[in-house]
Amino acid sequence: MKKIVRFLLYTVLLVIVVAGGFVGFLQVRGIPKYDAPQIPEFKAEATPERIVQGTKIASVQCMVCHKDSNNRLTGRFLSELPDNFGKIYSANITHSKEHGIGSWTDSELAYFLRTGVRKNGQYAPIYMPKFAHLSDEDLKSVIAWLRSDDPQLQATEKPTTPPVPSLFTKFLCLVAFKPLPYPTAPIAQPDTTNAIAYGKYLVTGRYDCYTCHSADFAKLNMQDPEKSLGYCQGGNTMLTLASNKIYTANITPDEKTGIGNWTEDDFRSAMHESKNKAGHPLRFPMLPYTALTDNEVHAIWQYLRTVPKIENDVNRQYNIDLDVPQTASK
Ligand code: HEC
Ligand code: HEC
Repeated sequence: MKKIVRFLLYTVLLVIVVAGGFVGFLQVRGIPKYDAPQIPEFKAEATPERIVQGTKIASVQCMVCHKDSNNRLTGRFLSELPDNFGKIYSANITHSKEHGIGSWTDSELAYFLRTGVRKNGQYAPIYMPKFAHLSDEDLKSVIAWLRSDDPQLQATEKPTTPPVPSLFTKFLCLVAFKPLPYPTAPIAQPDTTNAIAYGKYLVTGRYDCYTCHSADFAKLNMQDPEKSLGYCQGGNTMLTLASNKIYTANITPDEKTGIGNWTEDDFRSAMHESKNKAGHPLRFPMLPYTALTDNEVHAIWQYLRTVPKIENDVNRQYNIDLDVPQTASK
């Protein structure tokens, strides 16, 4: 009897020591820093057309996360991210040479935006999206915009607050979040006359709708987006501006729980006027996609109709008071 008790005690102690050691290892390891990469040459010559296109893409893809309360892109606290990722701050991406990206080359920017790895090897996890599938031309446009005289990008000498990733994020960097490979061949512009192919590009490349709209940020497949867990089925937990939990919508063509019984007009007003078929205004972090052309909206709609239906009844919580933080739900 005594022997068994002692054995159990030692086993428990051993488990505690091993688990403690693992936690300590994760804490010390932090977010991985890899060997400084060999960065291929990438040139993004600025043309007026590229700056226009880059501004449009950035207005959907970059500004919302990087804009501070003074309309400068010096970074902010990303309150909408589920807090299990830690306390996450975005970075200063103004022209400042010291605090922003003023001294980065086009190639370094392209490499980081595609893979998540900086020139010194420091990796940026999930909370900075990766633009692995963006066409070369769109990537050049984004970089041309980053170099442009957009007042939001004017050099601002404000240091970035370093993110404080949680143990969970550090653990995910060990098992799931890895730098994406840099493409070995140029990524062509999609054929804008093939609505389904163009729509797939918009949902998985240019506008990344699938990241929020799949089941779980931690289970995204950035290499092959359509293989993400619960692709476009919604239910991913995010936070509103008042820190209430909000669940992303099911945008598969399932008739009962997705957008299967919507018309293209319903979808266009969700994109352009930010309200859904039932008349509910769509809440942050879903944004009005006013910058999208009718052709883009049409392509996304056509593509979403081809995505496998998933029945997933998301709790839309239309009753939550968005102005009053609901501490009970956190
Ligand atoms: C979901 C929010 C989010 C979006 C969208 C986003 N970023 Fe970021 N970005 C971040 C966060 C958070 C960091 C800091 C990551 C870190 O420190 O590891 C970051 C870091 C960066 C950095 C590195 C800066 C440095 O000094 O190391 C650059 C460059 C950058 N972002 C550019 C962009 C561009 C360009 C876009 C749009 C194409 C974009 N970001 C979209 C959240 C975002
Ligand atoms: C930052 C995360 C995020 C991104 C990116 C995003 N969405 Fe959403 N989306 C949401 C959330 C959250 C909701 C639910 C809003 C609500 O309940 O008020 C939503 C709601 C919707 C709805 C309403 C569906 C319904 O049944 O009410 C549609 C349609 C939609 N999104 C399509 C898209 C498309 C298309 C894109 C890409 C162009 C996109 N979303 C990008 C977070 C996001």
